Amino acid sequence: MNQQSILNKTVEHVKKTLSGEGSGHDWWHIYRVWQNAREIGVREKADMFVVELAALLHDIADWKFHGGDDSKGPKAAREWMISCGVDEITIQHVCEIISEISFKGAGVASKINTKEGMVVQDADRLDAIGAIGIARTFAYGGHKGREMYNPEIKPEQHDTFDQYKKNSGPTVNHFYEKLLLLKDRMNTRSARELAESRHRFMEEFLVRFYAEWEGRQ
Ligand code: NI
Repeated sequence: MNQQSILNKTVEHVKKTLSGEGSGHDWWHIYRVWQNAREIGVREKADMFVVELAALLHDIADWKFHGGDDSKGPKAAREWMISCGVDEITIQHVCEIISEISFKGAGVASKINTKEGMVVQDADRLDAIGAIGIARTFAYGGHKGREMYNPEIKPEQHDTFDQYKKNSGPTVNHFYEKLLLLKDRMNTRSARELAESRHRFMEEFLVRFYAEWEGRQ
């Protein structure tokens, strides 16, 4: 199979696996990350086959939905790529990206070290901020049965991945624990530029949110 056919087949596979998922990690999240990754990847002159495969497969078995097991994703992706006849070097690279890509807490350093990994991580992070980021955050909070906001519970800084996984605070706290930190953590210059206005929009959203909470306009 040539690269384009592998990508087309992967699109169908991911669509089938994730469609209708209700917490913000559905096919359309993958679609948006894929588009972001193509945009950033071309600008950054990355290997686009690796970038597109990793973007498409990055949430195929996300740890958030497998009882915190973060080895399921790379494993499912590997099996899929083997079935498509992808070469071992590409498989290895894509799996590495998938296992390192997710945000593990504000105080936990990311280990992404290839250009392709940086591009896909940035693309995923862009989809976590801005208008879509806000929508996804509330969708995920609802899925987890969290309070939308509780002024009595303050945001926390999570220094380990375990603390971050166990976090059960209100959804608005997630802005401070993750979303507002992402702009400065973009790996590539292209993504940093794209993140600016999405970041500003979230700040404006919070200002309005607190004002309306207290009955102000
Ligand atoms: Ni994702």
